Amino acid sequence: LAALKGRDLLSSADLDGPQTLALLELARQLKSGERRIDLAGKVLGLIFSKASTRTRVSFIVAMARLGGQTIDLNPAVTQVGRGEPIADTARVLSRYCDALAIRTFAQEDLADYAHWASIPVINALTDLEHPCQALADALTIQERFGHGPTDLHGLTLAYVGDGNNMAHSLMLVGALLGMDVRVGCPDGFAPSPTVVEQARSLAGGRSSITVLQDPVATALGAHVLYTDVWASMGQEEEQAQREQAFAGWCLDEDLLAEADPRAIVLHCLPAHRGEEISAGVIEGAASRVFDQAENRLHVQQALLATLLGGVAD
Ligand code: CP
Ligand code: NVA
Repeated sequence: LAALKGRDLLSSADLDGPQTLALLELARQLKSGERRIDLAGKVLGLIFSKASTRTRVSFIVAMARLGGQTIDLNPAVTQVGRGEPIADTARVLSRYCDALAIRTFAQEDLADYAHWASIPVINALTDLEHPCQALADALTIQERFGHGPTDLHGLTLAYVGDGNNMAHSLMLVGALLGMDVRVGCPDGFAPSPTVVEQARSLAGGRSSITVLQDPVATALGAHVLYTDVWASMGQEEEQAQREQAFAGWCLDEDLLAEADPRAIVLHCLPAHRGEEISAGVIEGAASRVFDQAENRLHVQQALLATLLGGVAD
Protein backbone atom coordinates (compact mmCIF):
# COMPACT_ATOMS: atom_id res chain seq x y z
CA LEU A 1 0.00 0.00 0.00
CA ALA A 2 2.91 2.37 0.59
CA ALA A 3 3.26 2.61 -3.21
CA LEU A 4 -0.17 4.25 -3.39
CA LYS A 5 0.92 7.32 -1.40
CA GLY A 6 0.10 10.47 -3.35
CA ARG A 7 -1.93 8.64 -5.98
CA ASP A 8 -5.48 9.42 -7.15
CA LEU A 9 -8.53 7.15 -7.07
CA LEU A 10 -10.57 8.20 -10.09
CA SER A 11 -11.71 4.72 -11.12
CA SER A 12 -12.00 1.32 -9.48
CA ALA A 13 -9.47 0.25 -12.11
CA ASP A 14 -6.83 2.60 -10.63
CA LEU A 15 -6.11 -0.20 -8.14
CA ASP A 16 -5.00 -3.70 -9.08
CA GLY A 17 -6.29 -6.86 -7.40
CA PRO A 18 -3.59 -7.12 -4.69
CA GLN A 19 -3.89 -3.40 -3.86
CA THR A 20 -7.68 -3.70 -3.58
CA LEU A 21 -7.30 -6.67 -1.24
CA ALA A 22 -4.69 -4.88 0.86
CA LEU A 23 -6.96 -1.86 1.18
CA LEU A 24 -9.87 -4.07 2.26
CA GLU A 25 -7.63 -5.77 4.82
CA LEU A 26 -6.57 -2.39 6.21
CA ALA A 27 -10.26 -1.38 6.37
CA ARG A 28 -10.99 -4.56 8.31
CA GLN A 29 -8.17 -3.82 10.76
CA LEU A 30 -9.31 -0.23 11.27
CA LYS A 31 -12.90 -1.39 11.76
CA SER A 32 -11.95 -3.98 14.37
CA GLY A 33 -9.63 -1.57 16.20
CA GLU A 34 -6.58 -3.81 15.58
CA ARG A 35 -4.90 -0.90 13.89
CA ARG A 36 -4.85 2.86 14.36
CA ILE A 37 -3.48 5.44 11.95
CA ASP A 38 -2.73 9.08 12.67
CA LEU A 39 -3.37 11.74 10.05
CA ALA A 40 -3.14 14.67 12.48
CA GLY A 41 -2.83 17.97 10.66
CA LYS A 42 -4.03 16.59 7.31
CA VAL A 43 -6.97 18.29 5.60
CA LEU A 44 -9.38 16.79 3.07
CA GLY A 45 -11.39 19.17 0.86
CA LEU A 46 -14.87 18.07 -0.24
CA ILE A 47 -16.16 19.44 -3.55
CA PHE A 48 -19.65 18.02 -4.01
CA SER A 49 -21.74 19.20 -6.97
CA LYS A 50 -24.48 16.66 -6.21
CA ALA A 51 -26.39 15.76 -3.05
CA SER A 52 -24.89 13.20 -0.65
CA THR A 53 -25.55 11.79 2.79
CA ARG A 54 -23.33 8.70 3.14
CA THR A 55 -20.33 9.81 1.12
CA ARG A 56 -20.16 13.27 2.62
CA VAL A 57 -20.65 12.21 6.23
CA SER A 58 -18.42 9.13 6.01
CA PHE A 59 -15.54 11.19 4.61
CA ILE A 60 -15.95 13.81 7.34
CA VAL A 61 -16.13 11.19 10.10
CA ALA A 62 -13.27 9.17 8.56
CA MET A 63 -10.95 12.19 8.70
CA ALA A 64 -12.10 13.01 12.25
CA ARG A 65 -11.33 9.48 13.41
CA LEU A 66 -7.89 9.63 11.81
CA GLY A 67 -7.17 12.89 13.63
CA GLY A 68 -7.39 15.04 10.48
CA GLN A 69 -9.95 17.56 9.30
CA THR A 70 -12.31 18.21 6.41
CA ILE A 71 -13.34 21.42 4.67
CA ASP A 72 -16.67 21.56 2.87
CA LEU A 73 -15.95 23.31 -0.43
CA ASN A 74 -19.57 23.33 -1.54
CA PRO A 75 -19.66 24.85 -5.06
CA ALA A 76 -22.49 27.14 -3.95
CA VAL A 77 -20.27 28.93 -1.42
CA THR A 78 -16.94 28.82 -3.25
CA GLN A 79 -15.92 30.28 -6.61
CA VAL A 80 -16.34 26.76 -8.07
CA GLY A 81 -20.07 27.45 -8.48
CA ARG A 82 -19.33 30.75 -10.26
CA GLY A 83 -17.26 29.05 -12.93
CA GLU A 84 -13.64 29.47 -11.78
CA PRO A 85 -11.65 27.12 -14.02
CA ILE A 86 -10.87 23.68 -12.64
CA ALA A 87 -7.22 24.22 -13.51
CA ASP A 88 -7.04 27.25 -11.19
CA THR A 89 -9.19 25.78 -8.40
CA ALA A 90 -7.16 22.56 -8.35
CA ARG A 91 -3.81 24.38 -8.17
CA VAL A 92 -4.98 26.74 -5.43
CA LEU A 93 -6.57 24.02 -3.30
CA SER A 94 -3.38 21.94 -3.64
CA ARG A 95 -1.60 24.71 -1.69
CA TYR A 96 -4.05 24.40 1.23
CA CYS A 97 -5.38 20.84 1.35
CA ASP A 98 -3.77 17.39 1.44
CA ALA A 99 -6.42 15.61 -0.67
CA LEU A 100 -9.69 16.33 -2.46
CA ALA A 101 -12.83 14.18 -2.62
CA ILE A 102 -14.95 15.26 -5.58
CA ARG A 103 -18.53 14.39 -6.50
CA THR A 104 -19.48 15.67 -9.93
CA PHE A 105 -21.12 14.77 -13.25
CA ALA A 106 -18.51 14.25 -15.97
CA GLN A 107 -15.58 11.90 -15.34
CA GLU A 108 -13.55 14.29 -17.54
CA ASP A 109 -13.99 17.09 -14.97
CA LEU A 110 -12.70 14.78 -12.25
CA ALA A 111 -9.74 13.84 -14.45
CA ASP A 112 -9.12 17.56 -15.00
CA TYR A 113 -8.94 18.18 -11.24
CA ALA A 114 -6.53 15.26 -10.92
CA HIS A 115 -4.39 16.58 -13.76
CA TRP A 116 -3.98 20.03 -12.21
CA ALA A 117 -3.89 19.08 -8.52
CA SER A 118 -0.62 18.06 -6.92
CA ILE A 119 -2.51 16.22 -4.15
CA PRO A 120 -4.56 12.97 -4.28
CA VAL A 121 -7.99 13.31 -5.90
CA ILE A 122 -10.68 10.81 -4.92
CA ASN A 123 -13.80 10.04 -6.96
CA ALA A 124 -16.74 10.53 -4.58
CA LEU A 125 -19.14 9.61 -7.47
CA THR A 126 -19.32 10.68 -11.08
CA ASP A 127 -21.80 9.72 -13.79
CA LEU A 128 -19.32 6.99 -14.80
CA GLU A 129 -18.15 5.44 -11.52
CA HIS A 130 -18.50 5.19 -7.74
CA PRO A 131 -15.30 3.45 -6.64
CA CYS A 132 -15.51 4.20 -2.88
CA GLN A 133 -18.93 2.56 -2.75
CA ALA A 134 -17.74 -0.53 -4.63
CA LEU A 135 -14.88 -0.97 -2.13
CA ALA A 136 -17.35 -0.84 0.77
CA ASP A 137 -19.49 -3.37 -1.06
CA ALA A 138 -16.53 -5.73 -1.47
CA LEU A 139 -15.79 -5.50 2.27
CA THR A 140 -19.44 -6.31 3.02
CA ILE A 141 -19.28 -9.35 0.73
CA GLN A 142 -16.05 -10.53 2.39
CA GLU A 143 -17.70 -10.22 5.80
CA ARG A 144 -20.62 -12.40 4.71
CA PHE A 145 -18.74 -15.07 2.82
CA GLY A 146 -15.74 -15.29 5.09
CA HIS A 147 -13.17 -14.89 2.38
CA GLY A 148 -11.13 -12.72 4.74
CA PRO A 149 -7.99 -11.38 3.18
CA THR A 150 -8.32 -13.61 0.12
CA ASP A 151 -10.25 -12.64 -2.96
CA LEU A 152 -13.85 -13.41 -3.86
CA HIS A 153 -13.19 -15.94 -6.62
CA GLY A 154 -16.08 -18.37 -7.06
CA LEU A 155 -18.78 -15.95 -5.94
CA THR A 156 -21.31 -14.45 -8.33
CA LEU A 157 -22.53 -10.87 -8.02
CA ALA A 158 -25.77 -10.13 -9.86
CA TYR A 159 -26.60 -6.48 -10.46
CA VAL A 160 -30.13 -5.85 -11.70
CA GLY A 161 -31.31 -2.47 -12.97
CA ASP A 162 -29.70 0.51 -14.65
CA GLY A 163 -26.24 0.01 -16.19
CA ASN A 164 -24.98 3.09 -14.35
CA ASN A 165 -21.98 4.30 -12.32
CA MET A 166 -22.61 1.60 -9.67
CA ALA A 167 -22.80 -1.17 -12.27
CA HIS A 168 -19.51 0.06 -13.75
CA SER A 169 -17.54 0.17 -10.51
CA LEU A 170 -18.97 -3.19 -9.39
CA MET A 171 -17.90 -4.84 -12.65
CA LEU A 172 -14.38 -3.47 -12.25
CA VAL A 173 -13.96 -4.34 -8.56
CA GLY A 174 -15.64 -7.71 -9.11
CA ALA A 175 -13.18 -8.46 -11.91
CA LEU A 176 -10.21 -7.42 -9.75
CA LEU A 177 -11.36 -9.75 -6.96
CA GLY A 178 -12.14 -12.72 -9.21
CA MET A 179 -15.93 -12.58 -8.95
CA ASP A 180 -18.29 -13.54 -11.74
CA VAL A 181 -20.34 -10.41 -12.35
CA ARG A 182 -23.69 -10.43 -14.17
CA VAL A 183 -25.31 -7.13 -15.03
CA GLY A 184 -28.96 -7.40 -16.05
CA CYS A 185 -30.62 -4.33 -17.57
CA PRO A 186 -33.64 -3.61 -19.76
CA ASP A 187 -32.89 -2.97 -23.42
CA GLY A 188 -31.34 0.48 -23.79
CA PHE A 189 -29.94 0.66 -20.25
CA ALA A 190 -26.86 -1.54 -20.58
CA PRO A 191 -23.54 -0.48 -19.02
CA SER A 192 -20.88 1.23 -21.11
CA PRO A 193 -19.34 -1.31 -23.55
CA THR A 194 -15.95 0.28 -22.87
CA VAL A 195 -16.22 -0.47 -19.15
CA VAL A 196 -17.50 -3.99 -19.85
CA GLU A 197 -14.40 -4.63 -22.01
CA GLN A 198 -12.16 -3.07 -19.37
CA ALA A 199 -13.64 -5.35 -16.68
CA ARG A 200 -13.19 -8.41 -18.92
CA SER A 201 -9.60 -7.48 -19.49
CA LEU A 202 -9.02 -7.05 -15.72
CA ALA A 203 -10.67 -10.42 -15.08
CA GLY A 204 -8.14 -11.93 -17.49
CA GLY A 205 -10.25 -15.02 -18.13
CA ARG A 206 -10.29 -15.91 -14.43
CA SER A 207 -13.92 -14.86 -13.98
CA SER A 208 -16.75 -13.81 -16.26
CA ILE A 209 -18.39 -10.43 -16.84
CA THR A 210 -21.80 -10.90 -18.46
CA VAL A 211 -24.48 -8.45 -19.61
CA LEU A 212 -28.03 -9.82 -19.77
CA GLN A 213 -31.52 -8.48 -20.46
CA ASP A 214 -33.48 -10.77 -18.14
CA PRO A 215 -33.71 -10.26 -14.35
CA VAL A 216 -34.27 -13.94 -13.48
CA ALA A 217 -31.35 -15.16 -15.61
CA THR A 218 -29.21 -12.47 -13.93
CA ALA A 219 -30.17 -13.45 -10.37
CA LEU A 220 -30.09 -17.23 -10.80
CA GLY A 221 -27.87 -18.83 -8.13
CA ALA A 222 -26.10 -15.54 -7.34
CA HIS A 223 -24.41 -14.95 -3.97
CA VAL A 224 -24.92 -11.19 -4.03
CA LEU A 225 -27.97 -9.43 -5.44
CA TYR A 226 -27.41 -5.73 -6.00
CA THR A 227 -29.58 -2.93 -7.31
CA ASP A 228 -29.56 0.86 -7.50
CA VAL A 229 -31.97 3.64 -8.45
CA TRP A 230 -33.51 3.67 -11.91
CA ALA A 231 -32.88 7.41 -12.36
CA SER A 232 -29.54 8.62 -11.08
CA MET A 233 -28.72 12.16 -10.01
CA GLY A 234 -28.87 14.31 -13.14
CA GLN A 235 -31.57 12.10 -14.74
CA GLU A 236 -34.48 13.34 -12.64
CA GLU A 237 -36.48 14.44 -15.69
CA GLU A 238 -36.34 10.87 -17.05
CA GLN A 239 -37.96 9.40 -13.93
CA ALA A 240 -41.41 8.64 -15.45
CA GLN A 241 -40.00 7.20 -18.67
CA ARG A 242 -37.55 5.05 -16.70
CA GLU A 243 -40.28 3.74 -14.39
CA GLN A 244 -41.98 2.36 -17.49
CA ALA A 245 -38.80 0.91 -18.98
CA PHE A 246 -37.87 -0.82 -15.70
CA ALA A 247 -41.30 -2.38 -15.03
CA GLY A 248 -40.64 -5.98 -13.98
CA TRP A 249 -37.13 -5.19 -12.76
CA CYS A 250 -37.89 -4.78 -9.03
CA LEU A 251 -35.56 -6.71 -6.70
CA ASP A 252 -38.42 -8.36 -4.83
CA GLU A 253 -39.02 -11.60 -2.93
CA ASP A 254 -39.59 -13.56 -6.16
CA LEU A 255 -36.27 -12.47 -7.63
CA LEU A 256 -34.46 -13.11 -4.35
CA ALA A 257 -35.86 -16.68 -4.40
CA GLU A 258 -33.87 -17.28 -7.63
CA ALA A 259 -30.56 -16.52 -5.91
CA ASP A 260 -28.35 -18.82 -3.82
CA PRO A 261 -30.03 -19.57 -0.44
CA ARG A 262 -27.11 -17.83 1.34
CA ALA A 263 -27.41 -14.74 -0.88
CA ILE A 264 -27.15 -11.22 0.51
CA VAL A 265 -28.86 -8.14 -0.88
CA LEU A 266 -26.95 -4.90 -1.32
CA HIS A 267 -28.05 -1.41 -2.37
CA CYS A 268 -25.79 1.64 -2.24
CA LEU A 269 -28.76 3.78 -1.02
CA PRO A 270 -30.72 5.97 -1.18
CA ALA A 271 -33.39 3.39 -2.09
CA HIS A 272 -36.88 3.71 -3.52
CA ARG A 273 -39.07 1.02 -2.02
CA GLY A 274 -41.56 -0.33 -4.53
CA GLU A 275 -39.39 0.75 -7.46
CA GLU A 276 -35.98 -0.92 -7.82
CA ILE A 277 -36.34 -2.87 -4.54
CA SER A 278 -39.31 -4.09 -2.50
CA ALA A 279 -39.77 -3.00 1.11
CA GLY A 280 -39.78 -6.67 2.16
CA VAL A 281 -36.39 -7.38 0.58
CA ILE A 282 -34.60 -4.26 1.80
CA GLU A 283 -35.90 -4.84 5.34
CA GLY A 284 -35.57 -8.64 5.13
CA ALA A 285 -33.06 -11.15 6.50
CA ALA A 286 -30.83 -11.15 3.41
CA SER A 287 -30.37 -7.39 3.37
CA ARG A 288 -26.97 -6.00 4.42
CA VAL A 289 -27.59 -2.42 3.31
CA PHE A 290 -26.79 -0.78 6.64
CA ASP A 291 -23.59 -2.79 7.18
CA GLN A 292 -22.74 -1.76 3.65
CA ALA A 293 -23.37 1.91 4.44
CA GLU A 294 -21.26 1.63 7.61
CA ASN A 295 -18.42 0.09 5.64
CA ARG A 296 -18.10 3.30 3.62
CA LEU A 297 -16.53 4.79 6.73
CA HIS A 298 -14.00 1.99 7.18
CA VAL A 299 -12.85 1.70 3.57
CA GLN A 300 -12.55 5.47 3.23
CA GLN A 301 -10.41 5.60 6.37
CA ALA A 302 -8.20 2.94 4.79
CA LEU A 303 -8.12 4.82 1.50
CA LEU A 304 -7.29 8.20 3.09
CA ALA A 305 -4.63 6.63 5.29
CA THR A 306 -3.07 5.04 2.22
CA LEU A 307 -3.21 7.98 -0.22
CA LEU A 308 -2.06 10.46 2.46
CA GLY A 309 0.92 8.33 3.39
CA GLY A 310 -0.14 7.06 6.79
CA VAL A 311 0.69 3.45 5.91
CA ALA A 312 4.30 2.33 5.94
CA ASP A 313 3.88 -1.11 4.37
N1 CP B 1 -24.32 5.58 -1.55
C1 CP B 1 -24.03 6.90 -1.61
O1 CP B 1 -23.06 7.32 -2.24
O2 CP B 1 -24.88 7.68 -0.90
P1 CP B 1 -24.89 9.28 -0.85
O3 CP B 1 -25.37 9.75 -2.21
O4 CP B 1 -25.83 9.60 0.26
O5 CP B 1 -23.49 9.75 -0.59
N1 NVA C 1 -26.52 5.79 -9.27
C1 NVA C 1 -26.82 6.70 -8.19
C2 NVA C 1 -25.97 6.39 -7.01
C3 NVA C 1 -26.20 7.26 -5.81
C4 NVA C 1 -25.31 6.92 -4.66
C5 NVA C 1 -26.62 8.13 -8.67
O1 NVA C 1 -25.63 8.38 -9.37
O2 NVA C 1 -27.44 8.98 -8.36
